[in-house]
Amino acid sequence: MPTMQAMEAADRAARHWRYEASSAPQPPPDEQVAMLSRMLLDTFNPYRPSILVWPKLDDEARNRLTSLPIWDIAVQTEGRARLRILSYARQVAIPVLREAFDLMAFEEGRHKEVLSHLVAAYGIELEPEPEYVEPKDPEWGFMVTGYSECIDSFFAFGLFELARRSGFFPPELVETFEPVIQEEGRHILFFVNWVAWHKRTMPLWRRPWFFLKTLAVWTYLIRERIGLAKDVSAGEKENANFTVEGASAVGGDIDTAELMAICLAENDRRLSGYDPRLRQPRTVPALVRVALPVLRWMSRRKG
Ligand SMILES: [Fe+2]
Ligand SMILES: [Fe+2]
Repeated sequence: MPTMQAMEAADRAARHWRYEASSAPQPPPDEQVAMLSRMLLDTFNPYRPSILVWPKLDDEARNRLTSLPIWDIAVQTEGRARLRILSYARQVAIPVLREAFDLMAFEEGRHKEVLSHLVAAYGIELEPEPEYVEPKDPEWGFMVTGYSECIDSFFAFGLFELARRSGFFPPELVETFEPVIQEEGRHILFFVNWVAWHKRTMPLWRRPWFFLKTLAVWTYLIRERIGLAKDVSAGEKENANFTVEGASAVGGDIDTAELMAICLAENDRRLSGYDPRLRQPRTVPALVRVALPVLRWMSRRKG
């Protein structure tokens, strides 16, 4: 068992990181790929969330937790993410980048393990897991996972903070889950920077094709989230209802504008500790920023 100091130091190191190997304000591609890979590798937390403390919950807290309708979706999402990342990793020829992909897959597997321990500790019943199928196009599979995480993590940041404030999750459980949420933050940072580097270094003729593929991924994810699409690779519905179902369960009748403001603040807080030369995930926060005045106006009318 590591000491308390070692664990605290690892936790800090997972949240604050600078790429010291280069001082270039805009690193060239070979340094850019080293930077985005090192970010993930250097901020790896070896201890948590492997060290799990499952607090004893009173009946009320336990019921709240077990009745959250997200556990099946969450476990399956982690399982599918791990496989998709691994299958893209096999195409990666640059050693440091390959190592980062393998680590990301390892972390998804670790999330799944955390969830399976939680499920066992609190007696949550899960549906049998589907068979996870390797994507036919690994790049597509990784992009679906990456952009999915960009959407879900943004809302998860806010929901998690809401659950902490409202006491929906007792403090010990917040402690246990905190590193999982931060890991997803590192994942989306890695992903958007990988996309930027990937686009920058692909042959010119591929760029329009990649642009269309990105559009297709977003269309697929949006359709999935409004309940229209099935996951093509596994024949199962994915994490479509994660945010919606989570919000109503955790926050009760929290005002949407208020929740979105918390999501934005948490997104900034969680991602601000890393090298400023890394690109930040922009799409979801930008859309929410645009929608926020409208949501505020709607909630004033309601109130
Ligand atoms: Fe995960
Ligand atoms: Fe992830």
